[in-house]
Amino acid sequence: MSGELAGRAALVTGAASGIGRAVAARLLDGGMEVLSVDLRPDQGGPGVPHQADLTSPEANERAVAAALERFGRLDVVVANAGVQHVAPIEEFPLERWQTIVSLLLTSPFLLAKHAWPALRASGHGRFVAIASVHGLVASPFKAAYVSAKHGVLGLVKTLALEGASEGITATAVCPAYVRTPLVEKQIADQAKAHKLPEEQVLEQVILAPHAVKELIEPSEVAEVVAFLAGPAGRAFTGVPVTMDQGWTAR
Ligand SMILES: NC(=O)c1ccc[n+]([C@@H]2O[C@H](COP(=O)([O-])OP(=O)(O)OC[C@H]3O[C@@H](n4cnc5c(N)ncnc54)[C@H](O)[C@@H]3O)[C@@H](O)[C@H]2O)c1
Repeated sequence: MSGELAGRAALVTGAASGIGRAVAARLLDGGMEVLSVDLRPDQGGPGVPHQADLTSPEANERAVAAALERFGRLDVVVANAGVQHVAPIEEFPLERWQTIVSLLLTSPFLLAKHAWPALRASGHGRFVAIASVHGLVASPFKAAYVSAKHGVLGLVKTLALEGASEGITATAVCPAYVRTPLVEKQIADQAKAHKLPEEQVLEQVILAPHAVKELIEPSEVAEVVAFLAGPAGRAFTGVPVTMDQGWTAR
């Protein structure tokens, strides 16, 4: 597959860890130039590192400007950075709601807004949001995450219609649980919210809605993003690209 994306440039957010890291590595392997944007690029991610707190509107604009300055073009935006907070609605802190909506919904909007002229100039612009199966269905105790991810589905549908005559596609990859620090970090909170011992959380909470009782690997999500970024992804626009181990089949 190496080289099929050669000559094109991407911006990937949340690229220091988990899915974003795997996506940046896969796009580099395909021959792309990649700006790896993260709150903590010091952790060492693939691609050209760019430090940004994407809950700040200006940081999103600066990240797009940095990609254009470095590469002179921008063909693919992968809006991936994310955090989670698990708490019942009556205890859910407003501050966590605001952070999650800023990072999961407002950041993708701002990245698309600022990258739009470059994506248009590309002739084959691609906007890919890493949404979630939680953009399609809900789970308890995740009010902010589920709301923001549903919003991202609305955003890519809108972008798909606006991009249709400009050669720009917009999609939302919707994975079920992927083996990353984001999932590992919520085990303690899930145990508390569900009143279960931590060792039972993976089987009884996390994998319970999966028909296939296995975590997805970050490299598998990265392969889907590379497909969407490449020529064969041309007809995918305005849709969730669901990879959910059978979760929504019920
Ligand atoms: N892991 C899963 O099961 C799963 C499933 C479906 C969707 N997702 C989505 O995939 C995306 C990546 O998740 P992951 O599991 O790889 O998480 P992760 O915790 O491994 O990585 C997230 C990255 O985002 C960065 N980040 C956090 N806050 C930031 C900020 N304010 N500004 C810039 N960067 C910031 C972190 O530093 C980290 O490198 C998220 O949008 C998540 O919602 C994850």
